Amino acid sequence: MAQRLPILYNKKPCYDIVFSQSFEELKLELQELELKERKVCIITDSTVDGIYGTELEQLVSEVCKKAVRFVFPAGESSKSLDTVKQAYVFLIENGFDRKDVLLALGGGVVGDLTGYVAATYLRGIDFIQVPTTLLAQCDSSIGGKTGVDFDGYKNMVGAFKMPRLVYMNLSVLKTLEERQFFSGFAEVMKYGLIKDALFYEWLIENMYEICERDLNVLEEMVMRSCSIKKLVVEKDPTEQGDRALLNLGHTIGHAIEKYKKFELHHGECVALGTVAAAYISWKKELLSMDEYYEIRDMFVPFYLPISVDGLDPAEILKLTKSDKKMEAGTIKFILLKKIGKAIIDRSVTDEEILAAINEINFSEEDAYE
Ligand code: GLY
Repeated sequence: MAQRLPILYNKKPCYDIVFSQSFEELKLELQELELKERKVCIITDSTVDGIYGTELEQLVSEVCKKAVRFVFPAGESSKSLDTVKQAYVFLIENGFDRKDVLLALGGGVVGDLTGYVAATYLRGIDFIQVPTTLLAQCDSSIGGKTGVDFDGYKNMVGAFKMPRLVYMNLSVLKTLEERQFFSGFAEVMKYGLIKDALFYEWLIENMYEICERDLNVLEEMVMRSCSIKKLVVEKDPTEQGDRALLNLGHTIGHAIEKYKKFELHHGECVALGTVAAAYISWKKELLSMDEYYEIRDMFVPFYLPISVDGLDPAEILKLTKSDKKMEAGTIKFILLKKIGKAIIDRSVTDEEILAAINEINFSEEDAYE
């Protein structure tokens, strides 16, 4: 039996997150949305399409007037205005009007891009999220952030647009490619670090089951992550304040992602950025040295990097400063006061950022530590 978590927007019920272990109940959920007279365009990438595209199109076509599929090449380079344009053309050619619906089937790139198309096509049409990666289930499919990269900068162009429904089939996590799965885990760790020390401890206690992808443990992990995200986005849906805490590790992480030309996964960069943020927190005497090393080393059993070779600190600093987390010329940094408590800090200096980048810059010595 599927479980559900309602998400409020401006204190009113907005959409539900449905947690299931199959796609079976999706049909029922879509019927509830009364799509009989509506067309549905499934937007997905080439990888996900090959696994679930046909099954989902069949399922969706049974509850709506017509189902079509728009498929783009998998990868971050597709998260662009070019793909958005191709999607508009596809929708126009298929006669999509304001009452019709988009369904994002895939990971973060698919969800963010589809949401942006939904936010802008005909000044906004409905969309549904069916996230298929750990990262998308725990983070990007919830809270209405949509957008694409621009000129190599992450999520530079976008809009807030709430979905009508987020439907998660947790069993898809069992077959995710290893690197993709663990990359998503960086966002899970984030919730424990910023808001919930008990969840952080639970993650340590369940390390083995998580790595083995025990479905019931994964379900609890995703549900707890979503519950924390719910609390944050309901209080601050458009990131005027505390929602920025969800950006722990993303400030330097996004700079590394761009510097490495998207060769590293988003979550891997978030792990590196989180180590850097924890290091700055230690140097600012918010965290103790022991806490810093504990946080850093927690990524290792989950196959996430804590250092990477070939970073040019001056270049990473420059990229960090051109990310959209700047406000009136200062960087909004998310630091940790302790495990389970994050703060927004605007006082981080260039020297502190450079020292943190050096800390995560792999050297031969690290190999023998
Ligand atoms: N991924 C961060 C947020 O949704 O605010």
